[in-house]
Amino acid sequence: MKQELPNFHNKLIRSFGRIKSRKLSAQKKFLLENFLPKIKLDNNSIDQVSSRSKEQSNILEIGFGFGDFLFNLAQKNPQKNIYGFEPHINGIVNLLELVNKENLNNIKISNADIRHEIANFTDQFFDEIYILFPDPWPKFKHYKRRLVTTNFLDNILASKLKKSAKIIIATDHDAYKTWILANILECKKLYWNASSKSDWQNFPQNWIATKYQKKAIAEGRIPVIFELVKSS
Ligand SMILES: C[S@@+](CC[C@H](N)C(=O)[O-])C[C@H]1O[C@@H](n2cnc3c(N)ncnc32)[C@H](O)[C@@H]1O
Repeated sequence: MKQELPNFHNKLIRSFGRIKSRKLSAQKKFLLENFLPKIKLDNNSIDQVSSRSKEQSNILEIGFGFGDFLFNLAQKNPQKNIYGFEPHINGIVNLLELVNKENLNNIKISNADIRHEIANFTDQFFDEIYILFPDPWPKFKHYKRRLVTTNFLDNILASKLKKSAKIIIATDHDAYKTWILANILECKKLYWNASSKSDWQNFPQNWIATKYQKKAIAEGRIPVIFELVKSS
């Protein structure tokens, strides 16, 4: 049965910007029409993977952008199932090119808003969920578009995590850092076990920097990382 999204309106306020930027070449259109359906997640395939692979290792990235992090995860972990959601079509196509070239078969993606699809995954399914450099929506009137909230983390994502599984969030935006921290501290099912600043300033070894992360560093902003663990 489909889960209700607590405190969200039926029609969700959009948390992402453009869904298409540059014009697609014929080759890219071909990939979208012919290759995307082979690795696309929809309600039916989510049901199937949920029942088939619950015992396996399952990793989700929400808002994978151009897909560099997701692609690397899939390439380095052929035994794990990698899932990604990203509404931006140019990002999707970029990832399709990489996955097609390398012939990876452990990756499934969707261009849907994650908030419409997350309830279709079975509970206690994911080992890790990544939300990397979510749109900061810096203007006050746009705060309602911010994806990272206590409600989203604690009432929606937490139930989809296995026990002791993790949500990893990164941002380079000062005001969003504070917002994320305030929302994390309100969570009851997830805890942030940082003890010193190195826990949020140092990214794990062998971390693949995303496009936004590289841009932030090049422009002198310091990205931070929050690692939340499901408590029970
Ligand atoms: C600032 S970009 C960062 C992209 C990538 N993670 C990176 O670090 O390069 C944030 C991405 O999140 C996506 N996004 C925002 N809301 C989303 C949602 N509800 N479901 C899935 N993706 C979403 C946006 O389309 C956008 O591409």
